[in-house]
Amino acid sequence: MTPIFGRVSLLRHMVGKPDCSADKIEKSLGHIEWLISRYIQRATTLLDIARVTTGHLKFDPVLVNVCPLIREIAESVRPLAEHAGSTLDLQLQPEGLTILGDRLSLEQIIDNLISNAVKYGGGTPILITATADFKNDTAVICVRDNGPGIAPADQSRIFERFERAVRPGEQVTGFGVGLWIVRQLTEAMGGAITVYSEPGMGSAFTITMPLQLAKDTK
Ligand SMILES: Nc1ncnc2c1ncn2[C@@H]1O[C@H](COP(=O)(O)OP(=O)(O)O)[C@@H](O)[C@H]1O
Ligand SMILES: [Mg+2]
Repeated sequence: MTPIFGRVSLLRHMVGKPDCSADKIEKSLGHIEWLISRYIQRATTLLDIARVTTGHLKFDPVLVNVCPLIREIAESVRPLAEHAGSTLDLQLQPEGLTILGDRLSLEQIIDNLISNAVKYGGGTPILITATADFKNDTAVICVRDNGPGIAPADQSRIFERFERAVRPGEQVTGFGVGLWIVRQLTEAMGGAITVYSEPGMGSAFTITMPLQLAKDTK
């Protein structure tokens, strides 16, 4: 919270000064926006941990329309992505892609994966896809970055609690619980998560969830 207050008070002092331009205000507001989204993410992580560790994963399954949900989350992460230098590209189809799941958990899952791509993707383009796999009756959601990737030895470990794979000297903050939460929530809803990565070639995290309803799509 302190950095946010610090920035707001800086902005207050700036406004009205002779050298205060609209451009400077815009930049400062952009930075505050970024700080707020980072703060919300951290608070959300703490709530997620509480939810999963108390063992009371109470789901409220409803039919969730996947494409609008992903668009909404991508928009909320966009300030962070822009700050990191990453573009967010969405390829979502069919539009009617629907799964039966807990909306809040789905939000947490997708948000975690996109946020990781922003944090660890090194400012590379991020592609988010959602498709229907009618052969296996699953909805397939994939978040892919073009960053440094994950070493094979780390690829299963990162789904465990408090496990991180940050390289020496890398200054990315985190608790190492995001992917653990993602896996718990995904599996509890009958889905699965996999990672495909080659060092230097980026990472792709794929979620599959049982397809509920695909009207207007076949
Ligand atoms: N897209 C990614 N590219 C490279 N490494 C990643 C990516 N996503 C996750 N990781 C690695 O997996 C680790 C665990 O991720 P996570 O559980 O979300 O924890 P946190 O982000 O708090 O470190 C991260 O610390 C990072 O080393
Ligand atoms: Mg994370």
